[in-house]
Amino acid sequence: MKEIKFNEAAAITSPNPLVLVCTEKENGCLNIAPVSFFMYTSVNPPMLAFAMGKASNSGENIRRTGKAIISTAGDSLKEAVMTYGSTSGRKIDKMTHTPIVLQSVEGSDIQFPEDTKLAFVVSLTKTIEAGDHYLYLCDIDKIVADETKEVLFAWNGYAKLACAQQK
Ligand SMILES: Cc1cc2nc3c(=O)[nH]c(=O)nc-3n(C[C@H](O)[C@H](O)[C@H](O)COP(=O)(O)O)c2cc1C
Repeated sequence: MKEIKFNEAAAITSPNPLVLVCTEKENGCLNIAPVSFFMYTSVNPPMLAFAMGKASNSGENIRRTGKAIISTAGDSLKEAVMTYGSTSGRKIDKMTHTPIVLQSVEGSDIQFPEDTKLAFVVSLTKTIEAGDHYLYLCDIDKIVADETKEVLFAWNGYAKLACAQQK
């Protein structure tokens, strides 16, 4: 075996998970950012975790409000997701710049994309410093699903978005 770099390892573990972190900005607007550093951490109580760069607006928002919706992304969102992943909510209102169709769920004031197979309403329980990221450990308050929708994953590391198919 030969020693390789982190980004090469991420390409080998493709497809990687892809979720959209939906949060409320300080000005009340919705912010959405794609995240691949995502995992479940507990069944009972149901919990999940995701990691984001320390400067991210999404991180700032969930630390301030304690709330987020974590959703999967459907096929129609490929281009919007790449745009949301290359700009920060600190600089622009992404929903004005790149609008998409949104929906709401009872129990949360935060909207999330209409083209979504699965969404978690979460509450932040712990923020853990993890190198150049923060790891956000969350309770899952509610789970909703729409079986008719597809789920995008991140391929070639994080360069391409596509569905995954079983061999
Ligand atoms: C496919 C994909 C996966 C990404 N995964 C992560 C991730 O796991 N953690 C992270 O901090 N940023 C990730 N990013 C980059 C963030 O989405 C990007 O930094 C974004 O601008 C953050 O937005 P915000 O500042 O509005 O929160 C990913 C981007 C893409 C396109």
